[in-house]
Amino acid sequence: MPEIDSVAWRLLCPAKINWDLKVLGRRPDGFHELRSWFAAVAFFDRLELQVGAKGFRCQGPQAEGVPLSESNLVLQAERSWRQAGGEAPSVAWCLRKNIPAGAGLGGGSSNAAAALHLLQEVAQRRLAEPRLSEIALQLGSDVPFFLNRGGGQWRGGRGEVVLAEAALPETWIVLLLPPVSLSTPKVFQALQADPWDGLAPPPPPWPRNPGPNDLQRAAYRLQPDLAAAAEDWARFGDLHMSGSGAAHFLVCPDQASAQRTAASLQTAFADLQVEAVPLLPKWPQPIQGAATP
Ligand code: C5P
Repeated sequence: MPEIDSVAWRLLCPAKINWDLKVLGRRPDGFHELRSWFAAVAFFDRLELQVGAKGFRCQGPQAEGVPLSESNLVLQAERSWRQAGGEAPSVAWCLRKNIPAGAGLGGGSSNAAAALHLLQEVAQRRLAEPRLSEIALQLGSDVPFFLNRGGGQWRGGRGEVVLAEAALPETWIVLLLPPVSLSTPKVFQALQADPWDGLAPPPPPWPRNPGPNDLQRAAYRLQPDLAAAAEDWARFGDLHMSGSGAAHFLVCPDQASAQRTAASLQTAFADLQVEAVPLLPKWPQPIQGAATP
């Protein structure tokens, strides 16, 4: 057994995409009622927890701009978990950030859910599942998806209700990550949705091809440059936006074609980060090892 103060647990935190996204309307609580097929993708941040230390560090290609203070979702998750009665020794966090913020990929939410999982792993007193789910939703509408760690999920409510599940078929996508970030509240506001009438469609089966994203027009209105760029990207395949943007994705028939498309996009658009990745059928587990120096 390693010494208590050198024990580190690591967990990969995947990004998500919205395979489709319907906004049914504005609710009295100010949130919007959604229906969306969510899927995790094999594009990851990595969160490390060191027992017996204290602090928060962030490194990696997307570390710039990540708040290191209490407004960070990892630290908020820890505070909520302890306030709800979770008990663990003091911990230090080290986050390797690859998923851009303001991309509609749920990176911060994935980090928060991973923090809750890691705290449960090292806890002297764990929280029960229902309390953990409550905390997840308080942290953000996408956090419950990442806490749940399932396959394809048709989600409703703010995004916290699982209405149907599907085993994900082997599917490769190309993620297009422009150097643009969009604010989720601003995109919802720009949508100017009508009040929700309480009606909702029944859960469909997992659609082979991605469906429309109702937030796309609002995102393009806020960022006309993004709309223009998307027109160019669409020459490379069937283009879709994830969540409230700015990330987009193209669905490819297989790995080789995804990698070819990614290479062509990278040649054509130097300022675009491009990743060929599969949808994630099986989530990574926490692993124990030596702490990052
Ligand atoms: O829950 P989260 O913190 O991710 O939401 C950020 C903002 O996005 C909310 O404050 C709200 O303005 C908007 N939102 C919404 N309806 C949702 C999810 C988010 O209006 N279902």
